[in-house]
Amino acid sequence: MEMIKFIVLPTVLALFVLFLHFIIRIIKLRKLNLPKGTLGLPIIGETLEFFKANLEGKQIRFIQERMKKYDSRVFKTSLFGENIAVFCGTAGNKFLFSNENKNVQVWWPSSVKKLLRLSLVNKVGDEAKITRRLLMSFLNPETLRNYLPKMDRIAQHHINTHWKGKEQVVVYPIIQLYTFELACCLFLSMEDPIQLSNLSSYFEEFLKGIISFPINFPGTRFHKAMKAADAIKKEIKLIMKKRKVDLEEKKASPTQDLLSHLLVTSDTSGRFMSEVEILDNMLLLLFAGHDTSRSAISLIMKYLGNLPEVYEQVLKEQLEISQGKEEGELLQWEDVQKMKYSWNVASEVLRLSPPINGAYRNAMKDLTYADYTIPIDWKLHWNTRTTHMDPTLFTNPEKFDASRFEGEGPIPYSYVPFGGGPRMCLGQEFARLEILVFMHNIVKRFKWDLVNPDENFKYDPMLEPEKGLPIELHPSHYTS
Ligand code: HEM
Repeated sequence: MEMIKFIVLPTVLALFVLFLHFIIRIIKLRKLNLPKGTLGLPIIGETLEFFKANLEGKQIRFIQERMKKYDSRVFKTSLFGENIAVFCGTAGNKFLFSNENKNVQVWWPSSVKKLLRLSLVNKVGDEAKITRRLLMSFLNPETLRNYLPKMDRIAQHHINTHWKGKEQVVVYPIIQLYTFELACCLFLSMEDPIQLSNLSSYFEEFLKGIISFPINFPGTRFHKAMKAADAIKKEIKLIMKKRKVDLEEKKASPTQDLLSHLLVTSDTSGRFMSEVEILDNMLLLLFAGHDTSRSAISLIMKYLGNLPEVYEQVLKEQLEISQGKEEGELLQWEDVQKMKYSWNVASEVLRLSPPINGAYRNAMKDLTYADYTIPIDWKLHWNTRTTHMDPTLFTNPEKFDASRFEGEGPIPYSYVPFGGGPRMCLGQEFARLEILVFMHNIVKRFKWDLVNPDENFKYDPMLEPEKGLPIELHPSHYTS
């Protein structure tokens, strides 16, 4: 009897309320002119089809099939337990990017929210503006230009250590050592190989759990990612503690890295970031700052390996830059500004194979778009593929053509590998520099052949090669 009173009755009541809520929601939604599409099964929605398409590297099919079947402007689906409207084309991108804080706000799945707690990605409105401004005061071109010689030194050291003397390398795991070392060096002044390798192994777990069902139970991807996040922050906390003392005793410089910068810089109202905020933002930037560019550089290696005529032109440009320099002189800002063709090549790679396929916003109110109503709190997704592969925006979209980026380049809102609007990628300049510095060094040292020229890339959650991208290296005679 007691059991019925305290367990069974409340459970039945709770289920009834849930059921009622579900029915009322369906009746309400039916009355609205929602975008066409299907919400699939309750809670699961179309998540399984979406993940399957991502893992097979066929995400474009998931999007294109639905654009064709329902509406090429916007369609509805349901992913990660959320109702989602997928906004398509330049008009869809423009709507989402130009309505931040007016009608929409940035939104990430709850696994991201729980892992990156007080960091920028979980902030909206004025709070986000303030945090972005603080982080940007380190990540802007004027500040980053001072770190170029350091980036070049790290790239050369990386190639000497991990590529020189090898006949074959597997690009994806090796590139991570470069992008991770670079991020750790510029953000934390961490250069010790053992410390780097310890921290890097945690990031592997973190990455695999960042987009997952947020079930914190031993064995799940999410649980492993939570544990990894704690371990990473513990490590950064130790560095931070020592750094505070070093800054006070003038043994460390306020401009030596991002950590020092955040410890000594206040926002416009004179407020400093709390320790927890610094830790969460460092975790965000270390993660966002190396995994995306690792994917991008791996893809560039793939395209250059498959397109010898493009490789030759990149090499020509990079040799011209080297010829204007003294022996052993490191790259400077002015050198990188001359790498126009190389950046067009990288941009075309990011168009054809964007490391991140898109992002999400939350509807702050009922929205009217393309004759449909999109209810408040629905999630809104923009996806690179709806414009990058549109033949009316990019002629022969499947074809590699770096000249698309010459002159004025693609029309606004069509080329969006870094997103757009007030929540656009914060690390675009950092990524551009690390990519170009690597391209400069690698083409001068090697030519390469892909072991599997048709190797598939899948989103998990970033675009990564299924077999790690093994390549055969042929040292070239341009440098020792
Ligand atoms: C090729 C490399 C990269 C690509 C393709 C890329 C792409 C993106 C995309 C698509 C977004 C979402 C934008 C939106 O929702 O509109 C984003 C956000 C972000 N990225 Fe990147 N990213 C790259 C490199 C980096 C680097 C190197 C850093 C840090 C140094 C970084 C830091 C961030 C941060 C902090 C955000 C969140 C911004 C906010 O919420 O306001 N990214 N990135």
